[in-house]
Amino acid sequence: MRAARHTLGVTESEKKARYSLCGLPLARYARGARSSVGDKGAATELAYALSAAPQFDAAFRATFAELLAWRRDVRHFRTEEAPDEATLAELFHLAAFAPSVGNCQPTRFVRVDDEARRASIRANFEAANHEALGAYGGERAALYARLKLAGLSDAPIQLAVFCDEATEQGHGLGVRTMAETRRYSTVCALHTFWLSARARGLGVGWVSILDPGVIAEALDVPRAWTFIAYLCVGFAREEHLIPELERAGWQAREAHPVVRR
Ligand SMILES: Cc1cc2nc3c(=O)[nH]c(=O)nc-3n(C[C@H](O)[C@H](O)[C@H](O)COP(=O)(O)O)c2cc1C
Repeated sequence: MRAARHTLGVTESEKKARYSLCGLPLARYARGARSSVGDKGAATELAYALSAAPQFDAAFRATFAELLAWRRDVRHFRTEEAPDEATLAELFHLAAFAPSVGNCQPTRFVRVDDEARRASIRANFEAANHEALGAYGGERAALYARLKLAGLSDAPIQLAVFCDEATEQGHGLGVRTMAETRRYSTVCALHTFWLSARARGLGVGWVSILDPGVIAEALDVPRAWTFIAYLCVGFAREEHLIPELERAGWQAREAHPVVRR
């Protein structure tokens, strides 16, 4: 570790390389790299280090499958406990490992702490949810009315997630014919955040029953930022293997069709 520290990061490219490794056990990679490259400098060392890919074994795959199966959309949060700042910082770092079109990293997280702004988001949700209820009739309407579709009143951490449609990062690669791929990139980032949170015992709930224009205004963000998601983050009141909508009788999970041509 001492040698890794000694050789790491003064130039911009080295700093970027270090960012690519954020949160990973750098010493483990650097050790193998030193023996193969000698003293050729930190950037070369890191390039070698990055190629020293780990082998993911069967035990890891089984645990990873459990993580996927036990990730839940959470609407009920413990108000007595909040994630600590170090964990949150780690989650933002890990989200940056997600793929993005042209490597443009268009995702912008807005942490909503201000109570007045939170109240306006809640009002926005109440209005949109009331309108949504009106679109159903009979049994479906009665069932919809019983669903809890957001944890806005009790989630200790709340994040509005935007996509910067005007970012110059990535130099336009991949977005000429499909500009929406920037938004898909943001979804990849927030899903990475979601899984990483679950791996740390945290729950995340995605709220989309909102008017995006009103959200952007309430949070005073640049016009070029498209609203993608509002995330409620915290410790879940209960853990479940079955999605809440499935348990409530709204919609069960099904496999995706796969067709061949
Ligand atoms: C794009 C998107 C938008 C969603 N919006 C909401 C929402 O507004 N309210 C809600 O309760 N759940 C919302 N969800 C969560 C889904 O209802 C949930 O993922 C689904 O029922 C499966 O449950 P699970 O995530 O626990 O596996 C959303 C999920 C996605 C991917």
